[in-house]
Amino acid sequence: MSIHDGKESLQNDIPVNSYTEWHPLKEVIVGSIGNLIVETDDMSFRYFFWENLQSSSLLHRKMHRVPLSVIDQCRHDLDVLVSTLSRMGISVRRPEYLNTKAKRFSSPSGWRCYSTPPYNIRDQTLIYGNKIIETPVMVRSRMYENDYLKKLFYEYFERGAKWISAPRPSLLDNSFDTSGIDSNALHLFQDRSHVLPQYEMMLDAAQCIKIGKDIVVNVNNKNHKIGVQWLRSVLPDVCIHEINIVDSHIDATLLPLKPGVLLIDQRKIPNLNKLPQGLRKWKMIKITDEDLSENYKYANKSLASKALAINVLSIDEHHVIVNKEATSIIRKLELNGFIPVPVPFRHGRLFGGGFHCVTLDVYRDGVAESYGV
Ligand code: NVA
Repeated sequence: MSIHDGKESLQNDIPVNSYTEWHPLKEVIVGSIGNLIVETDDMSFRYFFWENLQSSSLLHRKMHRVPLSVIDQCRHDLDVLVSTLSRMGISVRRPEYLNTKAKRFSSPSGWRCYSTPPYNIRDQTLIYGNKIIETPVMVRSRMYENDYLKKLFYEYFERGAKWISAPRPSLLDNSFDTSGIDSNALHLFQDRSHVLPQYEMMLDAAQCIKIGKDIVVNVNNKNHKIGVQWLRSVLPDVCIHEINIVDSHIDATLLPLKPGVLLIDQRKIPNLNKLPQGLRKWKMIKITDEDLSENYKYANKSLASKALAINVLSIDEHHVIVNKEATSIIRKLELNGFIPVPVPFRHGRLFGGGFHCVTLDVYRDGVAESYGV
């Protein structure tokens, strides 16, 4: 299936261009997987995945290793995604990830972690217009993940893209705003009673949704708040709207599919007052509990909830890459005039990311417009 005519229609020579989640996709990076070893008692890990961890067997372990057979299956599914995108005429790039072994590293302040593979590459880079914006990391083990993308970023930079990197947080125990954690559970984040907080900026690009001249950002704590302050300083001409609908990443809860149409997790957005005023007028494709299956082998070790099926990737205003198991969502998309492109994706929940998370749109054919957000 080829729906695009390659690079002929690119609007300028700069290789980076993306203002929305739905403009025709011309070039995309697809993440890679390798060994995943997680130190589950690391406080930044617990903090970030807290919502899912509370019902997870991972909370009671020190370390979690994903079996190699599962990693192989995940690698296979990513390869199917790559071939599907390529068949649609999209240029697909991959991170430089030759050594797939997790490496243990430590910080000068003493925390230690295993490095993570460049799988959820959406999380730490926001492409906006011709800018590559590396966002301030939240999870210690992910500190060096973007290194695997540097070769590509240098290539784009040399061809004219702008490249901006956030101040790197130190991620000390007292950097985190844990005021939202139930006091009965605070001991799981180490004893912080003797340290005064000194909040740092932490914000993932996956908290942001691009809607032309507007960006909607999920902000749930003081770390995010400082992160948004920084984002505003580097994108002064963009209207940045703060909302608070989830713990962190927004893209399994709310995704715009084309001007005027949103895919939403109705459980998280029971009333539209949580959204910017303009967005409340958009048509909502509402995903309910019945549309989401819990039938997943590794559910009690998952880093993502069953809502991950909402984490789709739009190729353009019509075609949407969606997990082939998400039959109810596929039906709803069809009923609303979209053309779902089902792709197998067996282990997204285990690794904490679906199709939107594991991709980074580098070039979408379109300009910055206002969509009345
Ligand atoms: N934390 C979200 C996933 C975001 C991609 C969830 O578990 O639903």
